[in-house]
Amino acid sequence: SSLYSGVLARYGAWMDLPAHTRPVTLLEGNTPLIPMPRLAQELGGGFELFVKFEGMNPTGSFKDRGMTAAISEAFGRGVHTVICASTGNTAASAAAYAARAQMRAIVIIPEGKVAAGKLAGAVAYGAQVIQIQGSFDDALSLVVEISERHPIALVNSLNPYRLEGQKTAAFEIVDALGSAPDWLCLPVGNAGNITSYWMGFRQDHARRSSGLPRILGVQAEGAAPLVLGHPVEHPETVATAIRIGKPARGEQALEAAEQSGGRIIAVSDAEILAMQRRLAGEGVWVEPASAAGLAGLARQLREGKMRLSELRGRRVVAVCTGHGLKDPEIIAHNMPAPLRLPARMDALEEAILGVSR
Ligand code: F0G
Repeated sequence: SSLYSGVLARYGAWMDLPAHTRPVTLLEGNTPLIPMPRLAQELGGGFELFVKFEGMNPTGSFKDRGMTAAISEAFGRGVHTVICASTGNTAASAAAYAARAQMRAIVIIPEGKVAAGKLAGAVAYGAQVIQIQGSFDDALSLVVEISERHPIALVNSLNPYRLEGQKTAAFEIVDALGSAPDWLCLPVGNAGNITSYWMGFRQDHARRSSGLPRILGVQAEGAAPLVLGHPVEHPETVATAIRIGKPARGEQALEAAEQSGGRIIAVSDAEILAMQRRLAGEGVWVEPASAAGLAGLARQLREGKMRLSELRGRRVVAVCTGHGLKDPEIIAHNMPAPLRLPARMDALEEAILGVSR
């Protein structure tokens, strides 16, 4: 039938998955590519700007594309238990797909540093949630080791099937635009996603000459190991999704940026939050980390490191990786609180019209 049935059904023919794979899906993928004409104008104009809104996936982030692949492989192999370290989104996604496959999920998260919507998701889907008194990087070392000691499948992006799933976003962008965009901007944390996109675009180009984008990877200033050139012991950023000091696929991320003719840069928390507000002001509410890619684009243009003349007539796609609903507290802390009024017409009129009777 023509009904959409998820990324394995849609793109499985171009994914390198073992024969034992048994699809476990929540109909992830097929996310909107939203034109952002006002933001493009504000950034200088003359080019086309789109947001690939990955927050529209079943658990609210791009992780679902990779998780359907990783869980489908594990499920087909007869695995009963999966584990991951997470800043939150991977945890919620692993929990949901494990629930779908009736597997046990264990998620290890940094205490106090996971946004409310992600933690709630992991709990709601029935994962065993363990907060450690340490960072994401500490959690990742622990889960790598425990998955080597016991029959527990690791579903972080060190798992190659995660990348096979996540690269389908590149295929969708090419399907939507008819060819690859000229630039792709996206946030970089553990560096699985930038690696996946570059794999996807290269594979697509080899298959149907779709072209290759230049890639702008963006980290938060307080968690920018790929910009600094060394691990960050105590990463800090308001964008907790990418609060990572030792990216597992850091080398591949640097390669993707370099081979594509792009780069990896850092932006401040203030720039991230300003871009989050700006996107919401055009109807697209994303979590802070998801605004980093566009904050990076804005900064490059402002600093003259990318020129409007080079962008003229070109297409730029920014990947917005997670939904704004994931992190309600950031809004409560950074935006004015709603007015409280007595339930009276005069008070309401005064608040709305600025007049009192
Ligand atoms: N954006 C969001 C919303 C994320 O959750 C992540 C990573 C990234 C960007 C960066 O992607 O790690 O592939 O470079 N979140 C992981 C997690 C670390 O545990 O949910 P990456």
